[in-house]
Parts: sequence; structure tokens; C-alpha cells
Amino acid sequence: MSQRLEITSNIWITGASSGIGEAVTRELMQQGHRLVITGRRQEALEQLCALAPERMKSARADTTRREDLSAIGADLEAFGNLDMAILNAGACEYLEIADYDSSVIDHNITTNVVGTARCLDIALPALRRTAQQGRPATLVIVSSSAWWFPFGRAEGYGASKAALTYFAHALRADLASEGIDVVVVSPGFVKTPLTDRNDFPMPFLVSAEDAATRIVTGLRKGRMEIAFPKRFTWTLKLLGALPQGVIDRIAASMSRQSRKEQESNG
Ligand SMILES: NC(=O)c1ccc[n+]([C@@H]2O[C@H](COP(=O)([O-])OP(=O)(O)OC[C@H]3O[C@@H](n4cnc5c(N)ncnc54)[C@H](OP(=O)(O)O)[C@@H]3O)[C@@H](O)[C@H]2O)c1
Repeated sequence: MSQRLEITSNIWITGASSGIGEAVTRELMQQGHRLVITGRRQEALEQLCALAPERMKSARADTTRREDLSAIGADLEAFGNLDMAILNAGACEYLEIADYDSSVIDHNITTNVVGTARCLDIALPALRRTAQQGRPATLVIVSSSAWWFPFGRAEGYGASKAALTYFAHALRADLASEGIDVVVVSPGFVKTPLTDRNDFPMPFLVSAEDAATRIVTGLRKGRMEIAFPKRFTWTLKLLGALPQGVIDRIAASMSRQSRKEQESNG
């Protein structure tokens, strides 16, 4: 049986100012944990902290900026040893193939892969101190199931989340002997400011609150992989098991259809 979150825990959450990060923050706050929440929008973070000021602390940090992260390093242990880091901050920018621009790829990779990797500069030493005391230490990386199928326009986002998942799995191998768990979260579509911009159908969309409950429940159960909703992730898994030529034909047809819809919507 997992010991994660069984007792009051000290948790760092990145990207807590909206969407999934905010909902996970609210859920963990309601369960009595002590939280350090970060993001770039300080005002939104402060509003959340006002819900339980005695056990919440906010700090402004752009996860792509090393100097921001080193400035908040000590904050991670504001409430004692760090038990869990939930690296959730992320961005999604789509590519317009007719107007190819590699800065879209840069932006996705920089925020989702490099930014997450930089968070470890401060999270890993803190988690090590916890693990060395024989306490559960958990690194949670919020990836996505989007990269399991080659969706048109998602070249940058999908590549960043594929790289992030590989990064997490390799870290899991390296950190196993130190007793630090690395958990990968792979959501399908979740209703947040990030997906509110999408102009295409989002099958099996779940609310941010629903996503947060699934993530926190999975963490409590000691899961190393948390993917949801199952109807979506199983569909992607089944599609992904098809021969590459069949996958390519389905993906190309979806891309054509989506471009037609974009054109007809103006
Ligand atoms: N929504 C979905 O359908 C879905 C599906 C799969 C995976 N995900 C992943 O879930 C995570 C959260 O996304 P969301 O849907 O909740 O979107 P969201 O509401 O836009 O939240 C993104 C969060 O990341 C923070 N962030 C972005 N860039 C940052 C940076 N450079 N430095 C620090 N913080 C930064 C934002 O905070 P500030 O703006 O205050 O910095 C915000 O709090 C992302 O990693 C996303 O890829 C989402």
C-alpha cells in the first residue's frame, strides 16, 4: 500500500495559477497538505494562498528561467522537507503548416521540456534530503497522451510531451535506487484556459476538477502512471497499435478534415 499523501505532506506545484494546476492545488489544500505554489501570474497565486494562508506559500517563477528558479530554491522547504514536486507548468502552441515557423517548436520544447528539467535543479536536492530520511519522495511530471498519435498541428506540442515522457521514464530508472518515485501523468482533453482556445472537437473532455481528483487519487494509490479518461487513452493506444501505414492514412485524413473545418469557419 502506498504511503504517499497519507500524512500531511509538503508539496511544490508549478503552473498553479490556472487549469489543472489550480484544481490540484485546491484538492490538496482541502486534504490538509502544505503547499508551495508557483507560476508567473503572482496575483492568481496569491488569491489561492488566501484560502489557507497558514499552510500555503506562493512565489513567482518562470520555469524556463534558471535565475527565477534558484531564487525560490529555499521556498520549497518553507514547511519542512519536500515530500512531492508536481511539475505541471506547460504550454501548447499549434503549428500552421502553410506558414511553418520553427519558433512554435522552440516555445513548446522550451516550456514543456527545458522548463520542467530546470525545475529539477531545485526539486531534486530537496527530494533527496527527504528520501535519505526514509520518507516517501515523489516527483510528478505532467505530460500528455497527445503524443501517442500523430495529430496534425501538434508537431511542437506532441514532440515536447514525447520528450518529456522519455525524460521522466529515464529519471525513474536512475532514481529508483534512491527511493524517489517518478510519476507520469498523461491526461486526455481537460477543460482549462489552454484548451479553451482549441477550435476543434475534443472527445471525452473532462473538467479540471475531475482531472485533479483522478491525479490525486492515482498518487494516493501509489500509481506510477496516471492516464485518463480511459475511453480516450485506450482509443489512442488501440490506434497506436495499428501498422504505421494505417496510422499515417488516418492521421492525414484527420488533418485534411480539420483544415477544411478551419477554412469553413473563416
Ligand atoms: N488541458 C488539457 O487538455 C491538457 C491535456 C494534457 C496535458 N495537459 C498539461 O497539463 C498542464 C497544465 O495545463 P492546463 O491545461 O491546466 O493549462 P493552463 O490553464 O494554461 O495552465 C498552464 C499553467 O502553466 C503555467 N506556465 C506556463 N508557462 C510557464 C512558465 N514559463 N513558467 C511558469 N509557469 C508557466 C501557467 O502559469 P502562468 O501563466 O501564471 O505562468 C499556468 O498556471 C500542462 O503541462 C499541459 O500540457 C493539459
